[in-house]
Amino acid sequence: MKGLYIKTYGCQMNVYDSVLIENMIKPLGFNVVSDVGKADLVILNTCYIREKAVEKLYSELGKIYSSRKNKEVIIVVAGCVAQAEGKEVFRRAPFVYAVVGPQSIATLPELIVKASRDKNHVVNTDFPEIAKFDKLPGECYGNSQGSSAFLSIQEGCDKFCTFCVVPYTRGVEYSRPANEIFREALKLVANGTKEINLLGQNVNAYRGEFEGDVWDLGKLISCIAKIEKLERIRYTTSHPRDVHESLYLAHAEEPKLMPFIHLPVQSGSNKILRAMNRKYTVEEYLEIINRFRKLKPEIEFSSDFIVGFPGETERDFEETIKLVEKVGYAQAYSFKYSPRPGTPGAEKEDQVPEEVKTERLLCLRKLINKQQLEFNQSMVGKAIPVLFSDKKGKHQNQIIGKSPYMQSVCVSDPEGKYRDKIVNVKVLEAWQNSLLGVGFSD
Ligand code: 5AD
Ligand code: SF4
Repeated sequence: MKGLYIKTYGCQMNVYDSVLIENMIKPLGFNVVSDVGKADLVILNTCYIREKAVEKLYSELGKIYSSRKNKEVIIVVAGCVAQAEGKEVFRRAPFVYAVVGPQSIATLPELIVKASRDKNHVVNTDFPEIAKFDKLPGECYGNSQGSSAFLSIQEGCDKFCTFCVVPYTRGVEYSRPANEIFREALKLVANGTKEINLLGQNVNAYRGEFEGDVWDLGKLISCIAKIEKLERIRYTTSHPRDVHESLYLAHAEEPKLMPFIHLPVQSGSNKILRAMNRKYTVEEYLEIINRFRKLKPEIEFSSDFIVGFPGETERDFEETIKLVEKVGYAQAYSFKYSPRPGTPGAEKEDQVPEEVKTERLLCLRKLINKQQLEFNQSMVGKAIPVLFSDKKGKHQNQIIGKSPYMQSVCVSDPEGKYRDKIVNVKVLEAWQNSLLGVGFSD
């Protein structure tokens, strides 16, 4: 057996792709190794969403190359940097064998064989006519991912937000047929999965075919929820423009659907939202939040924010702060705007100075952290269902699971009873990033 080392950067779509790659490569005589020094094949599954992605890749490649100890190691660059950089990778890192974009991962085995046989560089950054999912062998799907699994239902994006590279690296929106997704969900559950996280760059833009009909995300969720041993469903990442009636209904009626939505707003200023080409207003966003809350009072939200988009004034930024105060997030991610080559935002003249971005980011993060801590503390004294995996805590006998709101919850489990189970936990203490509790399952 030869050693396969995969390193994954960026979003959950990449994590899912890495699982597919692993399932595709293992039958060729590889074992997954966690030490890159023991690898014969190294695959870096890269992310291009924010800056320094390219520099990070070349520095990582340099490290891997110099640690290979005279052994021949096949190095492959996959993912969104591969898509964006293409052949340029070979110029800067001639020891790389193959470069493959996210839509072409099905050709990886073939590329690896070709590159190592001919000792030649090979590259595939096509956006194939046949959907990526149809090209991968069926055995790659639905293998054990533990108690919580990702399932990709939609890929690509046609929305062209002016800051974002995704439409250029992942291509146009594509939804997998519903029966294919259902089959994969069934297999995952048969392999022990209790929670499925449906993935898509624009997951609620899902429009999948089912026997001549077109299903949306709400319909798909209500169908998957019928799988008896499946206990939890999540989906990410959704866009405020694609929240449809059936999704509200699914949250109101389907107890397996977790009451937690990642709904990125990006900015609280209508002027900036327009410049970002988000095609909704702050008022429309708030209406969506309020409607969900009316239908399901215990629902909570998270978001992504970008500070310092070109043209963002102090006043625009204050509107973002006001929006965060109004919504009250359970958690949120925030980033400094990073101009991406080829996107309209990068061409704009009114770029915000770096030190202003830094200042705004710190200010926003302070508020987000405060809200997160308050939300975590509001759980103290409550009993909540926690899904455990095999993840261990810092202290002896501790195990870590996830609350319905994706909070990390630590409990003591000396007998190892909680692994891969949903257990009721009484919350005793809460911090910024985790909760401490005690299980009372039996
Ligand atoms: N600069 C900063 N943040 C970005 N994101 C996407 N593109 C950029 C960029 N150019 C953020 C958005 C998105 C998240 C995945 O990454 O907030 O929702
Ligand atoms: Fe990027 Fe906007 Fe598409 Fe999200 S909706 S992937 S931010 S272009």
